[in-house]
Amino acid sequence: MIVSPSVLSLNYADTKSQIEELNASGAQWMHFDVMDGHFVKNLTFGPDILKAFERISPLTKDVHIMVDDPQMIAGIFIDAGADIITFHEEALPDEKKIKDLSAKIRSHGIKAGLSVKPGTPVTELGRYLNDFDLFLIMSVEPGFGGQKFMTEAGTRIQQLKKMLQEDHSSALIEVDGGINAETGKLCAQAGADVLVAGSYVFKNDIRKAVQTLCQLQSSH
Ligand code: DX5
Ligand code: ZN
Repeated sequence: MIVSPSVLSLNYADTKSQIEELNASGAQWMHFDVMDGHFVKNLTFGPDILKAFERISPLTKDVHIMVDDPQMIAGIFIDAGADIITFHEEALPDEKKIKDLSAKIRSHGIKAGLSVKPGTPVTELGRYLNDFDLFLIMSVEPGFGGQKFMTEAGTRIQQLKKMLQEDHSSALIEVDGGINAETGKLCAQAGADVLVAGSYVFKNDIRKAVQTLCQLQSSH
């Protein structure tokens, strides 16, 4: 299992040692939640923080932009060291614009992801299955860490897995929100390839929490 700890929940009073622990934890990715205070009622970090993390962490920078203007914000993070940029289908309700933004991100050698909020049918992703490198299923309403996992995410992951297999898409399924040992297992059994975890990792022993999730096997 690929594990992508969300630095939204990092203890910023102790940033340097938290990042050093994260680097040593066995996590492959770092999940970087960008929020603009409009698409979600929270405001987080800009490109300079990602550039700083780029200098002190070799982990794959998995940037999740929860913003009203993904075309503009993606452009900013293309130049800030992102390895993956995932934006929300709900923020760009136009098939051509969504495909064009994916192509723009990929033209810079960066992987493109598309995310849906819990209330958006997974079938909305049907026309993009071969235009993205990953799909991000939100298992909480985006905006804050520490929320409770929404159990219907299990069936949504299975539904997406089936769609990808039928379309011969090699895109990954990433799940984000309320992930811990139990909910992570449910997601792995449903077919998730990548697990995002914020509070479960940074509110506990970082290495132990990451190892627990890393050992989960994604069912194919
Ligand atoms: C929520 C963010 C998630 C969040 C996960 O809007 O997209 O990545 O940080 O935090 P936990 O794992 O605590 O639910
Ligand atoms: Zn996220």
